[in-house]
Amino acid sequence: MFQSIRVAAISNPNVLVVGHFQNEAPDKATLALDPTGALEAASKRTEATGETGRMVEAFPASASNTRRGARNAARFPKRIILIGLGERAKFDPSKLRDTIAPVVARRVNVTKDESILFDFTGPLAATKTDANRAGVCLGEGLGLIAWTADEFKGSAAPLPKRLKLTIAGKAGSGGAFQDGMEHGLGLARSANVARSISHAPPNVCTPDWIADRARKLARETGLKCRVFSGPDLVRERFEGLINVGKASENKPCMIRLEWTPKGGSKKNAKPIVIIGKTMTYDSGGLSLKINNGMRGMKRDKDGGCAVFGAMHAIATVIKPRRPVVALLASAENSINEAAYRPDDVIKFRNGVTVEVTNTDAEGRLVLADALCWACEKEDPAYIVDLATLTGGVVTALGSTFAGMWCDDDRLRAKIEAASARSGERVWRLPHHQEYRDMMKSDVADLINSNPNRKAHPIQGAAFLAFFVTAGIPWCHLDIAGVHAVEGDTGPFVKNSATGFGTRLLAELIDAE
Ligand code: BES
Ligand code: MN
Ligand code: ZN
Repeated sequence: MFQSIRVAAISNPNVLVVGHFQNEAPDKATLALDPTGALEAASKRTEATGETGRMVEAFPASASNTRRGARNAARFPKRIILIGLGERAKFDPSKLRDTIAPVVARRVNVTKDESILFDFTGPLAATKTDANRAGVCLGEGLGLIAWTADEFKGSAAPLPKRLKLTIAGKAGSGGAFQDGMEHGLGLARSANVARSISHAPPNVCTPDWIADRARKLARETGLKCRVFSGPDLVRERFEGLINVGKASENKPCMIRLEWTPKGGSKKNAKPIVIIGKTMTYDSGGLSLKINNGMRGMKRDKDGGCAVFGAMHAIATVIKPRRPVVALLASAENSINEAAYRPDDVIKFRNGVTVEVTNTDAEGRLVLADALCWACEKEDPAYIVDLATLTGGVVTALGSTFAGMWCDDDRLRAKIEAASARSGERVWRLPHHQEYRDMMKSDVADLINSNPNRKAHPIQGAAFLAFFVTAGIPWCHLDIAGVHAVEGDTGPFVKNSATGFGTRLLAELIDAE
Protein backbone atom coordinates (compact mmCIF):
# COMPACT_ATOMS: atom_id res chain seq x y z
CA MET A 1 0.00 0.00 0.00
CA PHE A 2 2.77 2.45 0.94
CA GLN A 3 6.15 3.13 -0.57
CA SER A 4 7.81 3.42 2.84
CA ILE A 5 7.16 4.00 6.51
CA ARG A 6 9.60 5.51 8.94
CA VAL A 7 9.38 6.37 12.60
CA ALA A 8 10.52 9.89 13.44
CA ALA A 9 9.59 12.80 15.68
CA ILE A 10 6.83 14.90 14.11
CA SER A 11 6.18 18.44 15.28
CA ASN A 12 3.04 19.16 13.26
CA PRO A 13 1.35 15.92 12.25
CA ASN A 14 -1.28 16.02 9.52
CA VAL A 15 -3.21 13.38 11.37
CA LEU A 16 -3.56 12.64 15.06
CA VAL A 17 -4.93 9.21 15.91
CA VAL A 18 -6.51 8.65 19.32
CA GLY A 19 -8.75 5.98 20.78
CA HIS A 20 -11.69 5.34 23.06
CA PHE A 21 -13.43 2.27 24.43
CA GLN A 22 -16.82 0.97 23.45
CA ASN A 23 -19.68 3.01 24.90
CA GLU A 24 -17.23 5.32 26.64
CA ALA A 25 -16.33 8.89 25.90
CA PRO A 26 -12.65 9.52 25.24
CA ASP A 27 -10.76 10.00 28.52
CA LYS A 28 -9.73 13.45 29.72
CA ALA A 29 -6.12 13.15 28.63
CA THR A 30 -7.27 12.30 25.12
CA LEU A 31 -9.81 15.13 24.91
CA ALA A 32 -7.20 17.55 26.17
CA LEU A 33 -5.15 16.88 23.03
CA ASP A 34 -7.65 19.01 21.12
CA PRO A 35 -8.40 22.30 22.85
CA THR A 36 -10.66 23.37 19.95
CA GLY A 37 -13.42 21.00 21.03
CA ALA A 38 -13.73 19.42 17.59
CA LEU A 39 -12.68 16.01 18.91
CA GLU A 40 -15.14 16.18 21.76
CA ALA A 41 -17.94 17.10 19.37
CA ALA A 42 -17.02 14.22 17.04
CA SER A 43 -16.94 11.76 19.94
CA LYS A 44 -20.58 12.61 20.68
CA ARG A 45 -21.77 11.65 17.24
CA THR A 46 -23.99 8.56 17.22
CA GLU A 47 -21.60 6.57 15.05
CA ALA A 48 -18.77 6.99 17.57
CA THR A 49 -19.62 3.72 19.28
CA GLY A 50 -16.08 2.71 20.15
CA GLU A 51 -16.49 -0.74 18.62
CA THR A 52 -13.12 -2.13 17.60
CA GLY A 53 -11.99 -0.38 14.43
CA ARG A 54 -14.95 2.04 14.22
CA MET A 55 -13.69 5.43 13.15
CA VAL A 56 -14.90 9.03 13.32
CA GLU A 57 -12.99 12.09 12.27
CA ALA A 58 -12.66 15.62 13.60
CA PHE A 59 -11.20 18.64 11.86
CA PRO A 60 -9.85 21.02 14.47
CA ALA A 61 -7.94 23.19 12.04
CA SER A 62 -11.00 24.24 10.15
CA ALA A 63 -12.16 27.71 11.24
CA SER A 64 -15.77 26.77 11.86
CA ASN A 65 -14.67 24.12 14.35
CA THR A 66 -12.19 26.22 16.19
CA ARG A 67 -13.30 27.61 19.52
CA ARG A 68 -10.07 29.47 19.83
CA GLY A 69 -10.40 30.95 16.38
CA ALA A 70 -8.91 30.31 13.00
CA ARG A 71 -5.80 32.22 13.97
CA ASN A 72 -4.49 29.14 15.77
CA ALA A 73 -5.55 26.67 13.12
CA ALA A 74 -2.06 25.92 11.89
CA ARG A 75 -1.12 24.63 15.32
CA PHE A 76 -3.62 21.79 15.20
CA PRO A 77 -3.56 18.62 13.19
CA LYS A 78 -5.64 18.91 10.04
CA ARG A 79 -7.46 15.74 10.95
CA ILE A 80 -8.05 13.72 14.09
CA ILE A 81 -9.05 10.10 13.76
CA LEU A 82 -10.89 8.80 16.81
CA ILE A 83 -10.85 5.05 16.67
CA GLY A 84 -12.80 2.47 18.64
CA LEU A 85 -10.79 0.09 20.80
CA GLY A 86 -13.68 -2.20 21.71
CA GLU A 87 -14.70 -3.08 25.24
CA ARG A 88 -12.29 -1.83 27.84
CA ALA A 89 -12.29 -5.16 29.71
CA LYS A 90 -11.45 -7.06 26.53
CA PHE A 91 -8.72 -4.77 25.26
CA ASP A 92 -5.67 -6.55 23.93
CA PRO A 93 -2.76 -4.84 22.18
CA SER A 94 -3.02 -7.31 19.30
CA LYS A 95 -6.08 -5.29 18.22
CA LEU A 96 -3.64 -2.55 17.25
CA ARG A 97 -1.99 -4.93 14.80
CA ASP A 98 -5.04 -6.72 13.49
CA THR A 99 -7.68 -3.98 13.29
CA ILE A 100 -6.57 -0.48 14.26
CA ALA A 101 -3.47 -0.29 12.05
CA PRO A 102 -5.22 -1.48 8.87
CA VAL A 103 -8.20 0.84 9.40
CA VAL A 104 -5.97 3.87 9.87
CA ALA A 105 -3.69 2.86 7.00
CA ARG A 106 -6.58 2.48 4.59
CA ARG A 107 -7.95 5.84 5.64
CA VAL A 108 -4.74 7.84 5.24
CA ASN A 109 -4.16 6.09 1.94
CA VAL A 110 -7.38 7.76 0.81
CA THR A 111 -6.82 11.14 2.49
CA LYS A 112 -3.17 11.17 1.29
CA ASP A 113 -1.82 12.30 4.64
CA GLU A 114 1.80 11.39 5.16
CA SER A 115 2.53 12.30 8.78
CA ILE A 116 0.65 10.58 11.56
CA LEU A 117 0.94 10.79 15.31
CA PHE A 118 -0.64 8.04 17.38
CA ASP A 119 -1.41 9.02 20.97
CA PHE A 120 -2.89 6.21 23.06
CA THR A 121 -1.73 7.53 26.43
CA GLY A 122 -5.14 7.42 28.12
CA PRO A 123 -6.42 4.02 26.92
CA LEU A 124 -3.14 2.20 27.52
CA ALA A 125 -2.90 3.59 31.05
CA ALA A 126 -6.54 2.72 31.73
CA THR A 127 -5.94 -0.93 30.78
CA LYS A 128 -2.43 -1.15 32.27
CA THR A 129 -1.20 -2.20 28.83
CA ASP A 130 2.56 -2.37 28.36
CA ALA A 131 3.35 0.59 26.11
CA ASN A 132 6.25 -1.11 24.36
CA ARG A 133 4.19 -4.18 23.51
CA ALA A 134 1.35 -2.00 22.21
CA GLY A 135 3.85 -0.11 20.06
CA VAL A 136 5.23 -3.36 18.63
CA CYS A 137 1.73 -4.48 17.65
CA LEU A 138 0.91 -1.15 16.02
CA GLY A 139 4.22 -1.09 14.15
CA GLU A 140 3.69 -4.65 12.93
CA GLY A 141 0.18 -3.86 11.72
CA LEU A 142 1.26 -0.75 9.83
CA GLY A 143 4.28 -2.49 8.37
CA LEU A 144 2.29 -5.53 7.23
CA ILE A 145 -0.56 -3.55 5.66
CA ALA A 146 2.05 -1.43 3.87
CA TRP A 147 3.35 -4.43 1.88
CA THR A 148 3.18 -3.87 -1.86
CA ALA A 149 3.94 -6.04 -4.81
CA ASP A 150 4.21 -4.08 -8.01
CA GLU A 151 7.07 -6.14 -9.38
CA PHE A 152 5.01 -8.21 -11.75
CA LYS A 153 2.68 -5.46 -12.91
CA GLY A 154 3.10 -4.45 -16.53
CA SER A 155 2.03 -1.78 -18.96
CA ALA A 156 -1.67 -2.55 -18.69
CA ALA A 157 -1.85 -1.66 -15.00
CA PRO A 158 -0.77 1.90 -14.25
CA LEU A 159 0.75 1.99 -10.78
CA PRO A 160 -0.82 4.14 -8.08
CA LYS A 161 1.32 6.80 -6.45
CA ARG A 162 2.39 5.37 -3.10
CA LEU A 163 2.70 7.41 0.07
CA LYS A 164 5.84 7.76 2.15
CA LEU A 165 4.60 7.78 5.72
CA THR A 166 6.29 9.29 8.72
CA ILE A 167 4.80 8.01 11.95
CA ALA A 168 5.32 8.81 15.60
CA GLY A 169 3.80 7.50 18.79
CA LYS A 170 3.10 8.70 22.29
CA ALA A 171 1.76 6.79 25.23
CA GLY A 172 2.62 8.27 28.57
CA SER A 173 6.04 9.61 29.38
CA GLY A 174 9.12 8.02 27.88
CA GLY A 175 9.64 6.54 24.46
CA ALA A 176 8.60 2.94 25.08
CA PHE A 177 5.60 3.11 22.77
CA GLN A 178 7.46 4.68 19.88
CA ASP A 179 10.44 2.35 20.38
CA GLY A 180 7.99 -0.52 20.17
CA MET A 181 6.62 0.87 16.91
CA GLU A 182 10.11 0.92 15.46
CA HIS A 183 10.71 -2.69 16.56
CA GLY A 184 7.34 -3.83 15.20
CA LEU A 185 8.00 -2.12 11.88
CA GLY A 186 11.32 -3.95 11.70
CA LEU A 187 9.66 -7.31 12.27
CA ALA A 188 7.03 -6.48 9.65
CA ARG A 189 9.79 -5.62 7.18
CA SER A 190 11.24 -9.08 7.70
CA ALA A 191 7.84 -10.72 7.31
CA ASN A 192 7.40 -8.67 4.13
CA VAL A 193 10.64 -10.10 2.76
CA ALA A 194 9.11 -13.55 3.25
CA ARG A 195 5.86 -12.40 1.65
CA SER A 196 7.59 -10.95 -1.40
CA ILE A 197 9.50 -14.17 -2.07
CA SER A 198 6.26 -16.10 -1.70
CA HIS A 199 4.63 -13.72 -4.17
CA ALA A 200 7.20 -14.42 -6.89
CA PRO A 201 5.85 -16.77 -9.58
CA PRO A 202 7.40 -20.19 -10.13
CA ASN A 203 8.84 -19.31 -13.54
CA VAL A 204 10.92 -16.64 -11.79
CA CYS A 205 11.34 -18.01 -8.30
CA THR A 206 13.34 -21.24 -8.70
CA PRO A 207 15.57 -22.91 -6.11
CA ASP A 208 18.59 -21.12 -7.65
CA TRP A 209 16.78 -17.80 -7.48
CA ILE A 210 16.10 -18.27 -3.78
CA ALA A 211 19.74 -19.29 -3.27
CA ASP A 212 20.80 -16.02 -4.92
CA ARG A 213 18.50 -14.09 -2.63
CA ALA A 214 20.01 -15.90 0.35
CA ARG A 215 23.54 -15.04 -0.78
CA LYS A 216 22.52 -11.42 -1.19
CA LEU A 217 20.92 -11.33 2.27
CA ALA A 218 24.09 -12.82 3.70
CA ARG A 219 26.28 -10.24 1.93
CA GLU A 220 24.13 -7.37 3.13
CA THR A 221 23.72 -8.45 6.74
CA GLY A 222 26.80 -10.46 7.62
CA LEU A 223 25.11 -13.86 7.74
CA LYS A 224 27.03 -16.85 6.41
CA CYS A 225 25.52 -18.59 3.40
CA ARG A 226 26.33 -21.94 1.87
CA VAL A 227 24.39 -23.54 -0.96
CA PHE A 228 24.54 -27.28 -1.67
CA SER A 229 23.65 -28.08 -5.26
CA GLY A 230 24.52 -30.59 -8.02
CA PRO A 231 27.38 -32.85 -6.87
CA ASP A 232 27.20 -31.44 -3.31
CA LEU A 233 23.77 -32.98 -2.96
CA VAL A 234 25.16 -36.35 -3.99
CA ARG A 235 28.15 -36.04 -1.68
CA GLU A 236 25.99 -35.08 1.27
CA ARG A 237 23.40 -37.72 0.39
CA PHE A 238 20.48 -35.31 0.24
CA GLU A 239 18.42 -38.03 -1.39
CA GLY A 240 15.04 -36.44 -0.77
CA LEU A 241 16.00 -33.30 -2.66
CA ILE A 242 17.72 -35.26 -5.43
CA ASN A 243 14.69 -37.45 -6.03
CA VAL A 244 11.93 -34.90 -5.61
CA GLY A 245 13.80 -32.36 -7.75
CA LYS A 246 14.87 -34.75 -10.53
CA ALA A 247 12.14 -33.95 -13.04
CA SER A 248 12.61 -30.21 -13.17
CA GLU A 249 15.02 -28.08 -15.17
CA ASN A 250 15.15 -25.93 -12.07
CA LYS A 251 17.58 -27.94 -10.03
CA PRO A 252 17.16 -28.50 -6.27
CA CYS A 253 19.42 -27.14 -3.57
CA MET A 254 19.86 -27.00 0.19
CA ILE A 255 20.46 -23.46 1.40
CA ARG A 256 22.17 -22.98 4.73
CA LEU A 257 22.25 -19.58 6.43
CA GLU A 258 24.01 -18.98 9.70
CA TRP A 259 23.96 -16.22 12.27
CA THR A 260 26.97 -16.06 14.55
CA PRO A 261 26.71 -13.40 17.24
CA LYS A 262 29.33 -10.68 17.03
CA GLY A 263 31.24 -10.44 20.27
CA GLY A 264 30.66 -14.09 21.07
CA SER A 265 27.75 -16.25 22.16
CA LYS A 266 26.31 -16.83 25.57
CA LYS A 267 28.28 -19.59 27.25
CA ASN A 268 27.96 -22.96 25.55
CA ALA A 269 25.07 -21.79 23.42
CA LYS A 270 24.22 -24.49 20.91
CA PRO A 271 22.61 -23.28 17.68
CA ILE A 272 18.89 -23.11 17.21
CA VAL A 273 18.08 -24.73 13.87
CA ILE A 274 15.12 -23.57 11.81
CA ILE A 275 14.09 -25.52 8.72
CA GLY A 276 11.70 -24.64 5.91
CA LYS A 277 10.02 -26.66 3.17
CA THR A 278 10.85 -24.61 0.08
CA MET A 279 9.10 -26.18 -2.91
CA THR A 280 9.09 -23.50 -5.59
CA TYR A 281 6.26 -25.39 -7.26
CA ASP A 282 4.33 -28.51 -6.36
CA SER A 283 2.57 -30.08 -9.34
CA GLY A 284 2.27 -33.32 -7.38
CA GLY A 285 4.77 -35.04 -9.67
CA LEU A 286 3.59 -38.25 -11.31
CA SER A 287 0.85 -38.44 -8.65
CA LEU A 288 -0.32 -35.32 -10.41
CA LYS A 289 -2.65 -32.90 -8.68
CA ILE A 290 -6.09 -32.85 -10.24
CA ASN A 291 -8.29 -30.07 -11.62
CA ASN A 292 -7.27 -26.75 -10.14
CA GLY A 293 -5.40 -28.40 -7.26
CA MET A 294 -2.15 -26.91 -8.50
CA ARG A 295 -3.28 -23.33 -8.35
CA GLY A 296 -1.46 -21.53 -5.55
CA MET A 297 1.32 -24.12 -5.34
CA LYS A 298 3.90 -21.43 -6.01
CA ARG A 299 3.38 -20.85 -2.30
CA ASP A 300 4.56 -24.34 -1.38
CA LYS A 301 7.81 -22.58 -0.51
CA ASP A 302 6.29 -20.59 2.33
CA GLY A 303 7.92 -22.58 5.14
CA GLY A 304 11.27 -21.63 3.64
CA CYS A 305 10.10 -18.06 3.06
CA ALA A 306 9.20 -17.77 6.76
CA VAL A 307 12.63 -19.08 7.73
CA PHE A 308 14.27 -16.66 5.28
CA GLY A 309 12.28 -13.80 6.82
CA ALA A 310 13.25 -14.95 10.31
CA MET A 311 16.96 -14.86 9.38
CA HIS A 312 16.38 -11.33 8.03
CA ALA A 313 14.83 -10.37 11.39
CA ILE A 314 17.65 -12.05 13.28
CA ALA A 315 20.29 -10.17 11.33
CA THR A 316 18.54 -6.78 11.27
CA VAL A 317 16.37 -6.56 14.39
CA ILE A 318 16.89 -9.30 16.97
CA LYS A 319 20.67 -9.83 16.79
CA PRO A 320 20.54 -12.67 19.34
CA ARG A 321 23.50 -13.67 21.46
CA ARG A 322 23.41 -17.24 20.30
CA PRO A 323 23.94 -18.96 16.97
CA VAL A 324 21.06 -19.70 14.62
CA VAL A 325 21.22 -21.96 11.58
CA ALA A 326 18.59 -21.99 8.84
CA LEU A 327 18.13 -24.79 6.32
CA LEU A 328 15.94 -24.27 3.26
CA ALA A 329 15.27 -27.49 1.38
CA SER A 330 14.36 -26.24 -2.07
CA ALA A 331 13.15 -28.08 -5.15
CA GLU A 332 10.43 -28.09 -7.77
CA ASN A 333 8.11 -31.10 -7.87
CA SER A 334 7.60 -31.53 -11.60
CA ILE A 335 7.27 -34.21 -14.26
CA ASN A 336 9.51 -35.50 -17.03
CA GLU A 337 10.86 -38.90 -17.98
CA ALA A 338 13.33 -38.77 -15.08
CA ALA A 339 10.67 -38.10 -12.47
CA TYR A 340 10.72 -40.12 -9.26
CA ARG A 341 7.73 -42.38 -9.14
CA PRO A 342 5.39 -44.23 -6.84
CA ASP A 343 7.17 -47.55 -5.94
CA ASP A 344 10.65 -45.98 -5.91
CA VAL A 345 12.68 -46.62 -2.76
CA ILE A 346 14.90 -43.84 -1.40
CA LYS A 347 17.64 -44.32 1.17
CA PHE A 348 18.30 -41.33 3.42
CA ARG A 349 21.58 -40.29 5.00
CA ASN A 350 20.54 -41.64 8.40
CA GLY A 351 20.03 -45.09 6.82
CA VAL A 352 16.21 -44.97 6.83
CA THR A 353 14.62 -46.24 3.61
CA VAL A 354 11.37 -44.92 2.19
CA GLU A 355 9.04 -46.48 -0.33
CA VAL A 356 7.36 -43.73 -2.31
CA THR A 357 3.63 -44.32 -2.39
CA ASN A 358 2.66 -40.84 -3.52
CA THR A 359 4.93 -38.33 -5.24
CA ASP A 360 2.67 -35.55 -3.99
CA ALA A 361 3.80 -36.22 -0.42
CA GLU A 362 7.12 -34.65 -1.40
CA GLY A 363 7.58 -32.09 1.34
CA ARG A 364 8.39 -34.66 4.00
CA LEU A 365 11.09 -36.14 1.74
CA VAL A 366 12.99 -32.88 1.35
CA LEU A 367 12.48 -32.03 5.02
CA ALA A 368 13.90 -35.42 5.97
CA ASP A 369 17.22 -34.38 4.40
CA ALA A 370 17.31 -31.18 6.42
CA LEU A 371 16.33 -32.91 9.67
CA CYS A 372 19.00 -35.62 9.24
CA TRP A 373 21.62 -33.00 8.47
CA ALA A 374 20.62 -30.82 11.43
CA CYS A 375 20.74 -33.71 13.88
CA GLU A 376 24.00 -35.07 12.57
CA LYS A 377 25.96 -31.90 11.80
CA GLU A 378 24.62 -28.94 13.74
CA ASP A 379 24.44 -30.15 17.35
CA PRO A 380 21.20 -28.19 17.74
CA ALA A 381 19.72 -26.87 21.00
CA TYR A 382 16.44 -27.56 19.29
CA ILE A 383 14.90 -27.71 15.82
CA VAL A 384 11.78 -26.02 14.49
CA ASP A 385 10.54 -26.86 11.00
CA LEU A 386 7.84 -25.06 9.05
CA ALA A 387 6.08 -26.52 6.05
CA THR A 388 2.99 -26.21 3.92
CA LEU A 389 2.85 -29.95 4.36
CA THR A 390 -0.75 -31.09 4.00
CA GLY A 391 -4.15 -29.99 2.76
CA GLY A 392 -5.47 -32.01 5.69
CA VAL A 393 -4.36 -29.43 8.21
CA VAL A 394 -6.51 -26.88 6.41
CA THR A 395 -9.49 -29.21 6.81
CA ALA A 396 -8.70 -29.70 10.49
CA LEU A 397 -7.81 -26.19 11.66
CA GLY A 398 -8.84 -23.90 8.80
CA SER A 399 -6.87 -20.68 8.54
CA THR A 400 -6.93 -19.90 12.24
CA PHE A 401 -4.17 -22.09 13.65
CA ALA A 402 -1.09 -23.81 12.33
CA GLY A 403 -0.81 -27.45 13.35
CA MET A 404 1.93 -27.95 15.94
CA TRP A 405 3.65 -31.17 16.89
CA CYS A 406 6.04 -30.84 19.79
CA ASP A 407 6.38 -33.36 22.58
CA ASP A 408 9.13 -31.45 24.38
CA ASP A 409 7.36 -29.50 27.14
CA ARG A 410 9.99 -26.77 27.46
CA LEU A 411 10.23 -26.09 23.75
CA ARG A 412 6.46 -26.18 23.41
CA ALA A 413 6.08 -23.58 26.15
CA LYS A 414 8.54 -21.33 24.32
CA ILE A 415 6.76 -21.78 21.00
CA GLU A 416 3.39 -21.03 22.60
CA ALA A 417 4.75 -17.88 24.24
CA ALA A 418 6.20 -16.70 20.91
CA SER A 419 2.92 -17.54 19.24
CA ALA A 420 0.97 -15.43 21.73
CA ARG A 421 3.26 -12.44 21.21
CA SER A 422 3.25 -12.65 17.43
CA GLY A 423 -0.44 -13.51 17.09
CA GLU A 424 0.60 -16.42 14.83
CA ARG A 425 -1.48 -19.12 16.42
CA VAL A 426 -0.57 -22.78 16.84
CA TRP A 427 -2.61 -25.74 18.04
CA ARG A 428 -1.08 -28.97 19.27
CA LEU A 429 -1.81 -32.22 17.49
CA PRO A 430 -0.65 -35.68 18.57
CA HIS A 431 2.41 -37.85 17.99
CA HIS A 432 1.54 -41.37 19.02
CA GLN A 433 2.88 -44.81 18.13
CA GLU A 434 -0.32 -45.65 16.23
CA TYR A 435 0.48 -42.92 13.73
CA ARG A 436 4.07 -44.05 13.34
CA ASP A 437 2.79 -47.55 12.69
CA MET A 438 0.71 -46.17 9.83
CA MET A 439 3.93 -45.22 8.06
CA LYS A 440 5.42 -48.77 7.98
CA SER A 441 6.25 -50.21 4.57
CA ASP A 442 6.33 -53.87 3.49
CA VAL A 443 9.19 -53.11 1.10
CA ALA A 444 11.25 -50.43 2.85
CA ASP A 445 11.22 -49.01 6.37
CA LEU A 446 8.60 -46.37 5.71
CA ILE A 447 6.04 -45.29 3.15
CA ASN A 448 5.76 -41.56 2.53
CA SER A 449 1.96 -41.58 2.63
CA ASN A 450 -0.60 -44.12 3.75
CA PRO A 451 -3.37 -44.47 1.17
CA ASN A 452 -5.91 -45.06 3.95
CA ARG A 453 -6.52 -41.28 3.80
CA LYS A 454 -6.51 -41.01 7.58
CA ALA A 455 -5.04 -38.11 9.55
CA HIS A 456 -2.73 -36.85 6.78
CA PRO A 457 -1.21 -33.99 8.79
CA ILE A 458 -0.39 -36.38 11.63
CA GLN A 459 1.02 -38.94 9.21
CA GLY A 460 3.32 -36.20 7.94
CA ALA A 461 4.54 -35.38 11.43
CA ALA A 462 4.92 -39.10 12.27
CA PHE A 463 7.01 -39.58 9.13
CA LEU A 464 9.29 -36.65 9.97
CA ALA A 465 9.86 -38.01 13.49
CA PHE A 466 11.87 -40.89 12.00
CA PHE A 467 14.49 -38.34 10.91
CA VAL A 468 14.95 -36.59 14.25
CA THR A 469 17.47 -38.07 16.65
CA ALA A 470 15.89 -39.05 19.99
CA GLY A 471 16.63 -36.47 22.67
CA ILE A 472 16.79 -33.43 20.38
CA PRO A 473 13.82 -31.16 21.11
CA TRP A 474 11.86 -30.63 17.91
CA CYS A 475 8.75 -28.81 16.80
CA HIS A 476 6.99 -29.28 13.47
CA LEU A 477 4.56 -26.62 12.26
CA ASP A 478 2.21 -27.41 9.37
CA ILE A 479 1.34 -23.97 7.98
CA ALA A 480 -0.70 -25.00 4.93
CA GLY A 481 -3.80 -23.24 6.33
CA VAL A 482 -2.21 -20.03 7.53
CA HIS A 483 0.56 -19.16 5.07
CA ALA A 484 -1.65 -17.01 2.85
CA VAL A 485 -5.02 -15.27 2.79
CA GLU A 486 -7.63 -15.19 0.04
CA GLY A 487 -9.50 -12.06 1.08
CA ASP A 488 -8.47 -8.96 3.03
CA THR A 489 -7.75 -10.30 6.53
CA GLY A 490 -6.47 -8.14 9.39
CA PRO A 491 -3.24 -6.52 8.21
CA PHE A 492 -3.01 -8.77 5.12
CA VAL A 493 -4.32 -7.66 1.75
CA LYS A 494 -6.22 -10.12 -0.38
CA ASN A 495 -4.34 -12.85 -2.19
CA SER A 496 -1.12 -12.35 -0.28
CA ALA A 497 1.18 -14.46 1.83
CA THR A 498 1.11 -13.80 5.56
CA GLY A 499 4.76 -14.58 6.20
CA PHE A 500 3.44 -16.86 8.95
CA GLY A 501 6.36 -18.00 11.04
CA THR A 502 8.76 -15.13 10.50
CA ARG A 503 7.51 -13.18 13.50
CA LEU A 504 6.90 -16.30 15.59
CA LEU A 505 10.48 -17.47 15.04
CA ALA A 506 11.82 -13.96 15.67
CA GLU A 507 9.93 -13.78 18.99
CA LEU A 508 11.08 -17.27 19.90
CA ILE A 509 14.73 -16.43 19.37
CA ASP A 510 14.37 -12.95 20.89
CA ALA A 511 13.21 -14.57 24.13
CA GLU A 512 16.31 -16.78 24.40
N1 BES B 1 1.97 -28.82 -0.77
C1 BES B 1 0.98 -29.77 -0.51
C2 BES B 1 0.06 -29.39 0.66
C3 BES B 1 -0.78 -28.17 0.50
C4 BES B 1 -2.09 -28.29 0.14
C5 BES B 1 -0.28 -26.93 0.79
C6 BES B 1 -2.88 -27.17 0.05
C7 BES B 1 -1.07 -25.80 0.70
C8 BES B 1 -2.37 -25.93 0.33
C9 BES B 1 1.61 -31.10 -0.19
O1 BES B 1 2.81 -31.38 -0.78
C10 BES B 1 0.66 -32.15 -0.63
O2 BES B 1 0.47 -32.29 -1.78
N2 BES B 1 0.09 -32.85 0.34
C11 BES B 1 -0.83 -33.88 0.10
C12 BES B 1 -0.41 -34.98 1.02
C13 BES B 1 -0.91 -36.33 0.65
C14 BES B 1 -0.45 -36.75 -0.71
C15 BES B 1 -0.40 -37.28 1.69
C16 BES B 1 -2.22 -33.39 0.45
O3 BES B 1 -2.36 -32.56 1.34
O4 BES B 1 -3.17 -33.82 -0.19
MN1 MN C 1 2.59 -32.25 -2.71
ZN1 ZN D 1 3.94 -29.73 -1.35
